[in-house]
Amino acid sequence: MKCFTHKTLLAALVLAGASLQMQGCKPKGSQAAISGDAAAKTYVAPGKYDEFYNFVSGGFSGQMSVYGLPSGRLLRVIPVFSVDPEKGYGYSEETKAMLTTSNGFIPWDDLHHIALSETNGLHDGRWVFANANNTPRIARVDLKTFRTAEIIEIPNSAGNHSSPFITENSEYVVAGTRFSVPMGEHTDVPISSYKQNFKGTVSFINIDKTSGEMNLAFQIATPGVNFDLARAGKGKSHGWVFFSCYNSEKANTLLEVNASQKDKDFIMAVNWKKAEEYLKAGKGVKKAVKYTHNQYDEKKHSATSTTLNEVLVLDPKDCPDMVYFMPCPKSPHGCDTDPTGEYIVGSGKLAATIPVFSFTKIQKAIADKNFDGTYDDIPVLKYEAVLHGEVQKPGLGPLHTEFDDQGNAYTSFFVSSEIVKWNVKDLKVLDRVPTYYSIGHLSVPGGPTKKPWGKYVIAYNKITKDRYLPTGPELSQSAQLYDISGEKMKLLLDFPTIGEPHYGEAIPAELIMKNSQKIYKIEENAHPYAAKGDNYTRVERKGNEVHVYMTAIRSHFTPDNIEGVKLGETVYFHVTNLEQDWDIPHGFAIKGANNAELLIMPGETQTLKWVPEKTGVFPMYCTDFCSALHQEMQGYIRVSAPGSNVPIIYGTGTIKGASDSKTADGKTK
Ligand code: CUA
Repeated sequence: MKCFTHKTLLAALVLAGASLQMQGCKPKGSQAAISGDAAAKTYVAPGKYDEFYNFVSGGFSGQMSVYGLPSGRLLRVIPVFSVDPEKGYGYSEETKAMLTTSNGFIPWDDLHHIALSETNGLHDGRWVFANANNTPRIARVDLKTFRTAEIIEIPNSAGNHSSPFITENSEYVVAGTRFSVPMGEHTDVPISSYKQNFKGTVSFINIDKTSGEMNLAFQIATPGVNFDLARAGKGKSHGWVFFSCYNSEKANTLLEVNASQKDKDFIMAVNWKKAEEYLKAGKGVKKAVKYTHNQYDEKKHSATSTTLNEVLVLDPKDCPDMVYFMPCPKSPHGCDTDPTGEYIVGSGKLAATIPVFSFTKIQKAIADKNFDGTYDDIPVLKYEAVLHGEVQKPGLGPLHTEFDDQGNAYTSFFVSSEIVKWNVKDLKVLDRVPTYYSIGHLSVPGGPTKKPWGKYVIAYNKITKDRYLPTGPELSQSAQLYDISGEKMKLLLDFPTIGEPHYGEAIPAELIMKNSQKIYKIEENAHPYAAKGDNYTRVERKGNEVHVYMTAIRSHFTPDNIEGVKLGETVYFHVTNLEQDWDIPHGFAIKGANNAELLIMPGETQTLKWVPEKTGVFPMYCTDFCSALHQEMQGYIRVSAPGSNVPIIYGTGTIKGASDSKTADGKTK
């Protein structure tokens, strides 16, 4: 379709009710040359490290990817909500429980937002949280290992978009439901009864200060709107969270028209310190729900999934002074708090200005009861009373705002494909640069914290069109790096991304590198099927199951010859990597397995389940190049007919029978 010009778009915006086909425009001068020193500014010489890690969501890939900045080099894809055959995540017996939900095993999700843990409003480099949109969940990735350590499901939610956003001391990550839904006992109701039966929630997930363990502390019942994004307050606004929401019309069909009727939707301001007081006073009502909590035990190298059955819900009707609505023009999307915590920036994606709210004024309006009526019995603060001011003519389709350490804001504009820099205090536009194309989120290193690191802004774009070599109908999505150290923003680099780069956060490498784990200590391996040395390897039949306690070390498996398995039995290969050197994983795969490979880190035990479909001899091998003799790292397993009398024998070099086998503590059976 053709791009809107500034005027025609604004005209279209006025025609509320018209179907607005929001699509980004290709900016003018899209082939514009970058400045002469750009290459030098992003060049990281071979053997040198990048200055920042950039954790970027993978959107519909369900994973999180990690890039180095300023080079844009891809360092790692961390599997979070989707199975990953490269690493065996979701395929190994140990990791399947990570993807268990109240709907059963779910191999995929849509990961939109990233939140790095904070202490005193600053990145502390311990964990990164991420949301699953489709089947509402929040994950915690441990930055010592770059692995998903925990996933908690969010009940009473659908489309967990407004999530996860973190408070100043990582007290909570919050999660607002995108879809309002019928809740409780009777959910089989006509969709047309939306206004009576559909409700929203926002959830507060508590984070343990030491372990990082998540726990759904409470939910707040809300009117049936759609929550979009959120940010916690900080500094003076610590104790509050601001959630943007649209569809205050409570439409249940053709939202592109019906949810764009009103001149203003809302930002919902929640005083969570107040909520804690109400909880202490016993105002929380226990509601029956079913949700899972999945945790990975680093000593047992295994995940467990626990089902939980209730949640505490606070109703704003019983808890005055806990929740307020602030009017915000036209379907607000981003809702961002500046480093001081004084200013809250709303970005109405159909609005022609950017409203900036003042926390001080919000407090005053609350004290003065300066309300503009109520919305579902919740007080609505008067727009003019809480407004610091509006950024005039900033661009088209404002989405998200991040901040530098100089009092400036950077807002992404999807429709006009640009980043606009403006001053938070005087609201004057200072600079604008085109993005290629259709920017969504953007990130300044440390941008959501009290002390942004500044230096760069990264654009996460939805569309690349002609920026890269064509790759068929689907083109790579992309990120772009801009230098913001001077008055004018300067484009330095384009780099393609994995999946949809929805949002990202960047953090100085030194905050993470120093804690990076190199191996799992073999003596700490508490996996029940570990073989902590070759003399503990064995093959055991338990009813219809055959368990192989196997080791891997350069460059052989023990045992590498196995006989005596019968068709109809299920074989579990429990492979322990005995290496204790950094970067020496071994892999494991067997012909015909209806499964992915295992990728086993030094000191770790992982299990591949195999149900043979035929009799015969089946080769198995190491899939990860581990030494000059990697290609020799192989073996065979024989599967015989159900009634056969082939005994269990196994070994590497010397083959022995089951009667010679040792138990895990080395004793002969
Ligand atoms: Cu072990 Cu290749």
